[in-house]
Amino acid sequence: MARSALLNVMVQAALKAGKSLSRDFGEVQNLQVSVKGPADFVSQADRRAERVIRDELLKARPTYGFLGEESDEIKGTDGAHRWIVDPLDGTTNFLHGIPLFAVSIALERNGEIVAGVVFNPATDELYTAEKGSGAFLNDRRLRVAARKVLSDAVVGCGVPHLGRRNHGAFLIELRHVMGEVAGVRRLGAAALDLAYVAAGRFDGFWENHLNAWDIAAGLLLIREAGGYATDWNGGATSIESGEVVAGNEYIHKALTDVIKRPVPTK
Ligand code: IPD
Ligand code: CA
Ligand code: CA
Ligand code: CA
Repeated sequence: MARSALLNVMVQAALKAGKSLSRDFGEVQNLQVSVKGPADFVSQADRRAERVIRDELLKARPTYGFLGEESDEIKGTDGAHRWIVDPLDGTTNFLHGIPLFAVSIALERNGEIVAGVVFNPATDELYTAEKGSGAFLNDRRLRVAARKVLSDAVVGCGVPHLGRRNHGAFLIELRHVMGEVAGVRRLGAAALDLAYVAAGRFDGFWENHLNAWDIAAGLLLIREAGGYATDWNGGATSIESGEVVAGNEYIHKALTDVIKRPVPTK
């Protein structure tokens, strides 16, 4: 599979950060960890990986802006382009030795995501997409799953911590979804959740209160794999909304209806 020069830059940065993460994953008990909020951790591994990515991307495209989870935003001189980066999505998994985590790198051009890379170094799975050119897992072209009804579907979600604001609303959504689908899964890494939808592993996914860096690359993967990924009103997901509901056209519609179902009043 021939990749564009742009995608190559992103892939090289993701692979290099992946090496740094793999080294740290082997020594996870020695990492310094600090707490940003309720159940919100950041470790030396997150910071090191972000530095690697930022250096690689800014060396290759010095005029582009850079928004990463673990450092101050850099405004580019170019005005049109911005990298959006989660150096380690799934920090909690990582710190527990669970090999479900990923590097996520997206490029925004004039407010639109035009390229995305999600890489899980623990499984060596590299997901790539460029607008209009399809989505790939390593060299394999991706297509979202074909299941049409929720009763056959396995859907992913995010489970908010008790101390975070959307916990009660989530329990209501979950109760509604559990009554309709074949299975609910929680990976603990939103970038991978979205990649799993693109790869047809998950039929659908929903989560709220995400950040731009969690979802920017994954949204493009899904769209380029023929799926739908929107905010909960069905609008083109702005990465700022933090809301995602995803699937093929049938599951996307059905799942949106279920998560927004009003709470029964008796
Ligand atoms: C988190 C993961 C998780 C999601 C959280 C995110 P992080 O990202 O994507 O699946 O539920 O909302 O903050 O902090 O591990 O990069
Ligand atoms: Ca985090
Ligand atoms: Ca994240
Ligand atoms: Ca992160």
